[in-house]
Amino acid sequence: MMFGSLRPQAPAPAPSRLTWSWLTLFQIFLAVANFEPDEKGQEFSVIYKWSHRKLKFTPYQSIATHSARDWEAFEVDGEHFLAVANHREGDNHNIDSVIYKWNPATRLFEANQTIATSGAYDWEFFSVGPYSFLVVANTFNGTSTKVHSHLYIRLLGSFQLFQSFPVRPQHEPQLSIIGHCACHMHLLDR
Ligand SMILES: *[C@@H]1O[C@H](CO)[C@@H](O)[C@H](O)[C@H]1NC(C)=O
Ligand SMILES: *[C@@H]1O[C@H](CO)[C@@H](O)[C@H](O)[C@H]1NC(C)=O
Repeated sequence: MMFGSLRPQAPAPAPSRLTWSWLTLFQIFLAVANFEPDEKGQEFSVIYKWSHRKLKFTPYQSIATHSARDWEAFEVDGEHFLAVANHREGDNHNIDSVIYKWNPATRLFEANQTIATSGAYDWEFFSVGPYSFLVVANTFNGTSTKVHSHLYIRLLGSFQLFQSFPVRPQHEPQLSIIGHCACHMHLLDR
């Protein structure tokens, strides 16, 4: 989800661009994807939590990411997840993107599954009846922009590859899920 006009109320470590994801648990969390390494060369994204006392978002958890482009929040069977699109690590675009699951015992998001991606740009979640799907937009594999984007279905506690789609290579693909039950999936070039 992108909310380009919002600005963080808590000081963020000066990323060049931000993407936003809302996750409503018993509280509100906001995941901010950081595109650039900080001054120490470390890359991480920050999950902020709404403070009812301070009436602003305050940093809650830092997660190591690699040129993170998007955070997608979703719920499956009462469990809460965040998927990050890791775009590249240095010059390497063929890296894992990670699905984190909220652990109510530790009260932290913990890695639940890694998925190999190529210049991942966007995650979208949708469900059809009892089935949950995640689709990732891949953009570049190091030599080519003619890479497939992949649709995953959740079976037996993990996401498994369901179908792959070629995306026209000119630009970064944009994913959008139109409608909730009819589920037309659009893979567009900007
Ligand atoms: C991920 O979460 C599911 C439950 O949603 C669990 O069954 C599975 O063991 C978890 N996987 C890892 C690697 O923690
Ligand atoms: C990248 O994709 C191109 C076109 O699909 C393919 O020919 C090439 O082998 C791929 N390279 C890597 C490193 O996966």
